[in-house]
Amino acid sequence: MRRRNTLTRLLAVAALGLPIILPAAPAAATPAAPQRQLADVIPAPVETRPDARGTFTLRPHTVIRTAPGSAAAWRVGRQLAETLRPATGYPLPVLPVHSTPLPEIALLIGGADARVGQEGYQLDVTRQRVTIRARTEAGLFAGVQTLRQLLPAAIEAPTRQRATWTVPGGRIVDHPRFAYRGAMLDLARHFHTVDEINAYVDLLSQYKINYLHLHLTDDQGWRIQIDSWPRLTTVGGGPGTGVDGVGPGFLTKADYRAVVAYAAARHITIVPEIDMPGHTNAAQSTYAELNCDGVAPAPRTDIAVGYSSLCIGDELTYRFVEDVIRELAAITPGPFLHVGGDEAHATTDAEYATFMRRVLPLVAKYGKRAYGWNEVMQVDPPTDVVAQFWGTGTSNADLAEAAARGNKVVMSPANKAYLDMKYDRGTPLGLSWAAYIEVRDAYDWDPATRVAGVGEQSVLGVEAPLWSETLRSIEDIEFMAFPRLPAIAELGWSSRASHDWDSFRARLGEQAPRWRLQDVNFYPSPQVDWS
Ligand code: ACM
Repeated sequence: MRRRNTLTRLLAVAALGLPIILPAAPAAATPAAPQRQLADVIPAPVETRPDARGTFTLRPHTVIRTAPGSAAAWRVGRQLAETLRPATGYPLPVLPVHSTPLPEIALLIGGADARVGQEGYQLDVTRQRVTIRARTEAGLFAGVQTLRQLLPAAIEAPTRQRATWTVPGGRIVDHPRFAYRGAMLDLARHFHTVDEINAYVDLLSQYKINYLHLHLTDDQGWRIQIDSWPRLTTVGGGPGTGVDGVGPGFLTKADYRAVVAYAAARHITIVPEIDMPGHTNAAQSTYAELNCDGVAPAPRTDIAVGYSSLCIGDELTYRFVEDVIRELAAITPGPFLHVGGDEAHATTDAEYATFMRRVLPLVAKYGKRAYGWNEVMQVDPPTDVVAQFWGTGTSNADLAEAAARGNKVVMSPANKAYLDMKYDRGTPLGLSWAAYIEVRDAYDWDPATRVAGVGEQSVLGVEAPLWSETLRSIEDIEFMAFPRLPAIAELGWSSRASHDWDSFRARLGEQAPRWRLQDVNFYPSPQVDWS
């Protein structure tokens, strides 16, 4: 009877002229999961109003309806369908129509609570339909990530599951606290392939991260094609480069564009970094003319820092830097270009200021907003230059002065937000120079009170950097990022009023079945009760 009913409705869908995918293989049995609650989401939504009468159930004849004429809603609808089809086995056609007689998930531009702003969304769940409203495509995409977490964990399975696909009833109104919610991968110490970067992007986008910073150059390797200096990649990124000589490789411009596009489709903007004037041994060992004495140093594959520097007094240095910035800016649609600037210990303060005062304007010349590690604030740069705080303390006079002048800061305190720090003494990967960082350490701090004189209005956001001295594979990346990345994502998105370790810990535990189904190699921290 139930089957015939379903079939009748599928025929109704067929009558609309839509493609039908009939369930093929018998579904795998899945144990019944407890009903999700509206607030069981990471990052915590700003406002949830549950309605126990409003449970929605995804069925074989459910359709995804998108605002007619909206290419943005249609694109997000297609992504949602692709996310939900494997585990449900349902056809979930995407229909750009005003109404349907079928149960629906509706994606609409406009009509949301005014508080949602440019990146937020309103999600309403009743027995008949799920409606996501937003002002922008990014907002709809964020709402879809929430909907995904409100469905049973089995929705993340790559093959058809037997489950009751319920969504708890009520309303969510949600929007980010900070504009910049970032993560960073270090391609220099070990190269990560396009597939690995994209796999990380998939995970980041589920937690409403919207920037991915790529650390493209360092002492041990140069990982981005620059046509005017071709040996940077063939030699500086070639065989034998990377820590211990085992992380060679580089992104061609086509590779880089592919990563930019893949991330953009998931509302993540790529931030490229060329680290200078220090952290430059890969370039200087490749091109002898980039050294003050004209002699190329040996390539380095150890993890020492602070020994290299471009030649501050040589005009050729600025021709090199401008070539790199020009070529990189041309393939970077995002607003930021990161110039590094950290740990320039082989350079005097005066040389450092000379260098940065020439280089920061070059970034602006090619249409980008300059961004650097917090040391760049030593040179009192223009107020549109962004600083990335990576210290372990709670005061930094240069940063506080910059904030008072109007510069914005991204918070990445190394003893809280560095995903390459070990969880504890026993962690097989990672380093420990800044701290051991357990999940609670990563979660229990406030970006707006971390550094004296750098308050809420000066904080552009947060970023979780992942340095790769000890990392080889995507499994290694996942082990260090999960479960701490979701903690940093929540600090970036959720309101301070919702900050609560017990709540976060409970919601985090419920992510585990999803990660298992997605094959995410997470660290099962003893601080969390994993489902
Ligand atoms: C850094 O960790 N040197 C930015």
